Amino acid sequence: MDNKLEKILNLVQNNPVDFCRFSEDNHQINPESRIKSISNIISKINIPKHSTILDIGTGYGYGAVLLNALGYNAIGVEINEAKLKEGMGYWSKLGIDFEFTNDLSSVINSSGKLAFSARDSKNLSDIPNSSIDMVTSFYLSGYMVGKNGAYCGVERILKPKGNLVVTTQGYPNTPEFLKEFTVNLMGKFMEPKYLKLTSTLTINDPLVHDKFVLVYNKSNKYKKE
Ligand SMILES: C[S@@+](CC[C@H](N)C(=O)[O-])C[C@H]1O[C@@H](n2cnc3c(N)ncnc32)[C@H](O)[C@@H]1O
Repeated sequence: MDNKLEKILNLVQNNPVDFCRFSEDNHQINPESRIKSISNIISKINIPKHSTILDIGTGYGYGAVLLNALGYNAIGVEINEAKLKEGMGYWSKLGIDFEFTNDLSSVINSSGKLAFSARDSKNLSDIPNSSIDMVTSFYLSGYMVGKNGAYCGVERILKPKGNLVVTTQGYPNTPEFLKEFTVNLMGKFMEPKYLKLTSTLTINDPLVHDKFVLVYNKSNKYKKE
């Protein structure tokens, strides 16, 4: 196992926390299982070194914390401020350094930085055009998708070759032979404004709760007038 991953996993294993207050499901409240799940997904995605990654709907911050622990410049945005603050309290206790800010323009190019912002991800106006290498959104909720959903501002901030990587629980009981078809159908259905589904992945590992991974790119076809 990667040393950096091992370090963050050891930290959370040795510091159990009760995150029940804001979560309707058991999967989100266990940092160890969430970090294992997200790290498994990340290991299957090619992320260039020194990337700046925006994690939309970061919840308690798992995705952003893990990406930063792996060496990336990571920013987590979360609409539920109380939930994010609960998470930040935990990461502070663990000695993890981060900035909590309303102005993300200052943290875009600072390498190895971790930042959080409490906001609706539709509001990304402080992030310059074409400045983000990758946007992630782990374990999305259904209401986040759609024309004016959580990803509607992503196209503007992504670099030309940047990706949006979204993971979902998918349909856990989908038979093996239908998985590829289902994940593609779901990916197309969820396609955010001005982005194009370019690849999908299904994950069978029981440790990974997010079974479907959808990858979107900027597309000229969908370019604004
Ligand atoms: C199912 S949770 C996943 C949390 C986290 N990514 C994880 O992997 O555990 C989805 C999160 O997205 C947040 N969210 C939903 N819509 C959002 C929006 N428009 N902007 C920012 N966060 C949003 C919710 O508050 C919730 O915390």
